[in-house]
Amino acid sequence: MSQRLVIALPKGSLYEESAMRLRSAGVAVPERVGRRLSVLTEDGRAELLLLRPTDVPAYVEFGAADCGIVGKDTLWETDRSVSELVDLQFGLCRLVVAARRQDRYHQGERYPTFLRVATKFKRSAQRYFSERDLPCEIIALHGSVELAPLVGLADVIVDLVATGNTLREHDMVVVDEVACSSARLVVNPVRFRAKYDALLDLVQRLERSRLEV
Ligand code: PRP
Repeated sequence: MSQRLVIALPKGSLYEESAMRLRSAGVAVPERVGRRLSVLTEDGRAELLLLRPTDVPAYVEFGAADCGIVGKDTLWETDRSVSELVDLQFGLCRLVVAARRQDRYHQGERYPTFLRVATKFKRSAQRYFSERDLPCEIIALHGSVELAPLVGLADVIVDLVATGNTLREHDMVVVDEVACSSARLVVNPVRFRAKYDALLDLVQRLERSRLEV
């Protein structure tokens, strides 16, 4: 009998596409999981853990899950040690510096001497500004980051942009691009050796399903 895989899935915006990709790779993810935090597939070949996206790397590093799906943006911000095996090429978004249009930073206006930066991406933001020798104060937020410049909490934000609708609706513009993100399959390296056949099969199927989209 083949080995059962424990797969960590991110709830939220990456969930539906993650489930679809796994289904096309032969993992029978149920259509409805309700409020369940873990579910067995009908064929019993996989157990799915439904997690907050930022928790996926911890479950994989400590081996509570053999593998997981997570956005690259989450991996930038974590110390968790996981191996990234497949770029699944969905959940595409850009991490950008953005500001109010009227501040004209996108047209070359100089930043204030000590820039206040609101973000959920502390590390990436810190790295971006220190590489450019721009002193800044990082104001860590958990969401609704676009509000910060509008109410005087920060001069700029570092945040994800997917459709661009949130920026447009608040009359904000991209000043610079920091990095691009997409969903990744990550594995626990020890589990990869222990469940080599099952994990390699999953990796190969996901790579094939990626080419088919
Ligand atoms: C994310 C991100 C932006 C928005 C960008 O927020 O932080 O606010 O989506 O998407 P768009 O370019 O398609 O408009 P999320 O929806 O995760 O909510 P949050 O602000 O509460 O974190």
